[in-house]
Amino acid sequence: MLHWGLLATGVIARKFAATVNAMGQAEQNVLVACAAREQTRAQAFADEFSIPTAYGSYEQLVNDPAVDIVYISSPNNLHAEHIRLCLAHGKHVLCEKPFTFIAKDAAELYALAAEKGLFLMEALWTYHLPLIQKAQQLLAEGAIGQVQHLRADYGFIATGARRVRKFRSELAGGALLDIGIYNLAFARQMLGSHLGNFTGQPKLSEFGTDWFSHITGEYAGGITAAMTACIGLQMPVQGVVYGTEGQLFFPNYQQAQKMVLIKNNGEEEVFEMPFDHTGFEYQVRECARCIAQGLTASPVYPPQTSIAHMDELDRIRAAWGMKFACEA
Ligand SMILES: NC(=O)c1ccc[n+]([C@@H]2O[C@H](COP(=O)([O-])OP(=O)(O)OC[C@H]3O[C@@H](n4cnc5c(N)ncnc54)[C@H](OP(=O)(O)O)[C@@H]3O)[C@@H](O)[C@H]2O)c1
Repeated sequence: MLHWGLLATGVIARKFAATVNAMGQAEQNVLVACAAREQTRAQAFADEFSIPTAYGSYEQLVNDPAVDIVYISSPNNLHAEHIRLCLAHGKHVLCEKPFTFIAKDAAELYALAAEKGLFLMEALWTYHLPLIQKAQQLLAEGAIGQVQHLRADYGFIATGARRVRKFRSELAGGALLDIGIYNLAFARQMLGSHLGNFTGQPKLSEFGTDWFSHITGEYAGGITAAMTACIGLQMPVQGVVYGTEGQLFFPNYQQAQKMVLIKNNGEEEVFEMPFDHTGFEYQVRECARCIAQGLTASPVYPPQTSIAHMDELDRIRAAWGMKFACEA
């Protein structure tokens, strides 16, 4: 049985807790504790999700011997600090995306986890989705001929308190780190290489971070990609991979449960792989599988891929001249 502790009780922690509960104990994952910065908030969360222990500080959580692994869902700027806290107390870690906001921190943290013999993974859950893996197989088999171009769009309107959290420079906010990372992950998953040269300037909010960007990038073999990330316009979360003999269309590439293989001759094949629960269960299972095998990193979403994503984010921000207020 893998015993989970939750560090932070915000919006996404709710989805994570609901997922683990829906998976049920038969899957050998159980929530044993949660922590917020205030006891009352932690207790309310624990009551709602039937978690036995609630803590009013993160330090108490990492000192709980009943906790094997901590799921971190604090704001982006605090991930590195919270990962260090968990590792220092001998806890395995699954940390929300973006793993850190500087690639250098990411590399150091993965090295530290390996040194301590603890499992560490970024919760970039789309890497574990069965449909994404099916798409990779189709592309490798040449189902759409030679891949030439990819398009990925992800946009929604952040409102209220959430808008502030998502944009604030002190919290390493902005659309790129919030959702642009999914576009970059989709491109890497489908094209199998690193973002090379790119162009595209962001539109900045009053918080000094990007609320909109459209990037055109080059990948290995001369493949191009056009990616739009935006937290101020409603857009479909669509992805398309274009090849010489057809295209692979994802009506929602992030919640990837359906894709259509469209051949140039008009033939279509629909692939549907509904999630068992919310889609987070695949990354939870991956953590349990790796820890049971004594691994410190996931072969499905390894540190080098996570670090490469952080490196892409660093390079894009450097080209934009967008420095976070929380950066030294
Ligand atoms: N995988 C996904 O699909 C997905 C979706 C959304 C977000 N995320 C990621 O998850 C993380 C959290 O996002 P969220 O939407 O859950 O955010 P949120 O609702 O604002 O929750 C963040 C939590 O962080 C804690 N926190 C600790 N220090 C804080 C500080 N100085 N300021 C504000 N909050 C602080 C708070 O928890 P307590 O008050 O409970 O301590 C708060 O509830 C982000 O890194 C985000 O990128 C992932």
